[in-house]
Order: sequence, then C-alpha cells, then structure tokens
Amino acid sequence: MSERLDKWLSDRSADSRKEIKTLIRGRQVRVNDAVVTDPGHHVVPGDTVSVRGVVVTADQFVYIMLNKPQGVVSVSSAPGDRTVIDLLPPQMRRPDLFPAGRLDRDTTGFVLITNDGEFAHRILSPKKHVDKVYRVSLRDPAQESYIQAFADGLVLGDGTKCLSAVLIFSDDPRCVTVRLREGRYHQVKRMFASLGNQVVQLHRESIGTVLLDPALAPGECRPLTKEEIQKMLDSSDG
Ligand code: URA
Repeated sequence: MSERLDKWLSDRSADSRKEIKTLIRGRQVRVNDAVVTDPGHHVVPGDTVSVRGVVVTADQFVYIMLNKPQGVVSVSSAPGDRTVIDLLPPQMRRPDLFPAGRLDRDTTGFVLITNDGEFAHRILSPKKHVDKVYRVSLRDPAQESYIQAFADGLVLGDGTKCLSAVLIFSDDPRCVTVRLREGRYHQVKRMFASLGNQVVQLHRESIGTVLLDPALAPGECRPLTKEEIQKMLDSSDG
C-alpha cells in the first residue's frame, strides 16, 4: 500500500507535517537515493527514505533500549523537564513513542521505549511474569532476614502487600540485587523503607532476560535487536 511522503514521514518523526513539507521542498529528503521535492510523492513498501542523509526506519513498531541517566523523567513529554524521549537522536524520534514503565528521576538504567502498546503491556503486567532486576545501594547493611521478608511479600507503608521478590547479596552488604515482577510507584524504595532501611542509589540492570548493554553510556540508546525483542517476549507468560 502506498502512502504520501509527507504523511509517511510525519508518522515516523517528531516534526510537524508543515515542517516536513518544508524539508521536502528544501531538497532534504531522498527516496531510494533520488531527491524528492513533492510532499505528495507516494512511498511504497520497500522504499528507503532518508532525511539529510539519515535513513528513516520504515518499521511500524520500534523498540529502543536506553541507559537512563539521573535527572531525566520517564514520560513522553514534560514541559520544563528533560524526558527520556528528549535523549533520543532526532532520527529515532517519532510522535507515538513512550517509555514502557517508569523509573524515578534519580533512578538510572534500562528503560524500554516503544510505540507498541501490546508489547509494553506484556512486559509490564505482573501477570506476565517479566522480572525486572535492580542493583540497589543501601544506607545500612542488608540483613539476612531480608531474604525471607522479600520472598514472603513485603507489606508497604500503605498496608498493601507486594508479590514475592528475590533479594541477592553481594560481597558488600550495602549493595544488593533485587528481582521483582511488579512496577509499583517507588516500589524498591518503599520495600526497603518498610524494613527500616533506605535506598541510596538504584539502577535497573535488566528487563526479562535482556541485560542493559554495557556499551551504552548514560544517556545513550540503541534499537533492541530482533533476538532481544524475542527474548523479552519469551520471558513473558502467555
Ligand atoms: N523502584 C523504585 O523505587 N524506583 C524506581 O525507579 C524503580 C523501582
């Protein structure tokens, strides 16, 4: 099925249709290596479209791994704040992207950005059992008794009970790893608060069986590979 070039591009970019028409008329857009100046030119499946030399992905759905730095908010737009979407390079931006799940402003690590609502639901729903793993630095050393308390399901300050979670010790009792399948507001911080401790630093290391790529510096991102997308789906039940 063919589609107008200006519409095709505006569905895959953060620029307005008007801005896109200006780019096209300004000879900045190529289709299959030929400059196209007509916004009504029809794009067909298999065409390669580039803007200022950068190829625009034709995929309907996109899945991006971001290493979120501190101070950035996990929403699509927040006037006056820097969002995870603002960190994407221009050629990756599209108006329909959103972060699948939130990390607090001061939490770092793996954020999945997508435009696929069904995929996001599978990753986020506790019923689908996709574990999230966090590296946690604590104010006070973790106690052995925490392990059972996490496994039993901690009761938070508001009286609600968490699902069973796994706490793993390292050589340093102030540095532990937590594996959980829920994503409640401030959940890890509230879990440790319920034990009289305090989270000093929090970093998400993985979603399902997909690890945050150690090659990504804070603020950097890359598309998930096909294998990683499949691994995330395989991590979910049903
Ligand atoms: N739990 C928290 O407390 N904060 C996060 O950002 C993620 C999990």
